[in-house]
Amino acid sequence: ARKRKESMLAAHDLVAKLYHHLLLNTDYGAQARNYLLNRQMQLATIEEFGLGYSPDSWDFITQRLAKRGFSLSLMEEAGLLSQKDRNSRPFDRFRGRVMFPIHNSQGQVVAFGARTLGDDQPKYLNSPETPLFNKSHLLFNLHRARTQIRKQQEAVLFEGYVDVISAWQVGVHNGIASLGTSLTEQQARIIRRNTETVILCYDSDQAGIEAAFKGADLLVAAGCTVKVAQMPQGMDPDDYIQQYGGERFKQEILLNAASLTAYRLQVIRSRHTLNDETERMKFVHEALEEISRLPSAVERDHYLRQISEEFHLSLDAMKQEQKKIFKQQK
Ligand code: CTP
Ligand code: MN
Ligand code: MN
Ligand code: MN
Ligand code: MN
Repeated sequence: ARKRKESMLAAHDLVAKLYHHLLLNTDYGAQARNYLLNRQMQLATIEEFGLGYSPDSWDFITQRLAKRGFSLSLMEEAGLLSQKDRNSRPFDRFRGRVMFPIHNSQGQVVAFGARTLGDDQPKYLNSPETPLFNKSHLLFNLHRARTQIRKQQEAVLFEGYVDVISAWQVGVHNGIASLGTSLTEQQARIIRRNTETVILCYDSDQAGIEAAFKGADLLVAAGCTVKVAQMPQGMDPDDYIQQYGGERFKQEILLNAASLTAYRLQVIRSRHTLNDETERMKFVHEALEEISRLPSAVERDHYLRQISEEFHLSLDAMKQEQKKIFKQQK
């Protein structure tokens, strides 16, 4: 088993270097180079992340791996090659895509995320689960970001590879991402081992908001303090950086990240038309439910005051109501 894993690791190392070389130094890679250039990716960034290009061929990697003596069935198991069925010939899994190497915590390449240059589906094709690659236990870029995460005692959690890379390029070196799936309990625990505070910086669309809520719960359960950074409607962090630049991203998005409770209250608020009396009372009730979940009396007091002032409600009445709700929740 050990030999097999070592062989899979060696193959990933080889293939990553090959993809990288093809991207930067060959005609095959020209279109992908332009693609990345258009997305404002600098050469130094492409180098740092080891980005590559998989040529649009059924057997480019297959041939190379065979020539180097790798077992092709093992390479299929490693996710580098595909097969129609068990007895048919293996072929290159990734074809005509920009390659994002995914590393384990020791910094070894164990998988790839692969983006189409056009708009064919799927937009991203990722390595399957393999003996090297356990999606639910890995975080993209953690091996590179770990030192900064520990030093700053803060991690920024993104949805996409490109968001991590774009942010890195403007000096945010504590960014990580889960791998095309929602955050898992294991990933939350790994994050907690490195830092207490996490800034969630997800896409500002319905999917991103829902993912942020779920991710936040897991992180809180793992013992993290969660903040939520908010992008303008419809944008993701990379879009924002392209449009407004890195300084503004750091100053206005990351530094302005809201506490989780403030964020939740804001989302609850956005679901009600507050100039309607009944709706306003519904909002206050839902807000109290949210506030009741806070373990800290100081925090509860803070938000209760805020709401009582805004809606001209008596603080005492709010506190009583909140305690009632708290008892019901138990
Ligand atoms: N993802 C995936 N498979 C897909 C679509 C998305 O695995 N078919 C994952 C990828 O890890 C991607 C992340 O989900 O990075 C976020 O998806 P999305 O927001 O759609 O992609 P972006 O990161 O914004 O990619 P791009 O800017 O290149 O469009
Ligand atoms: Mn290089
Ligand atoms: Mn998205
Ligand atoms: Mn996105
Ligand atoms: Mn994007």
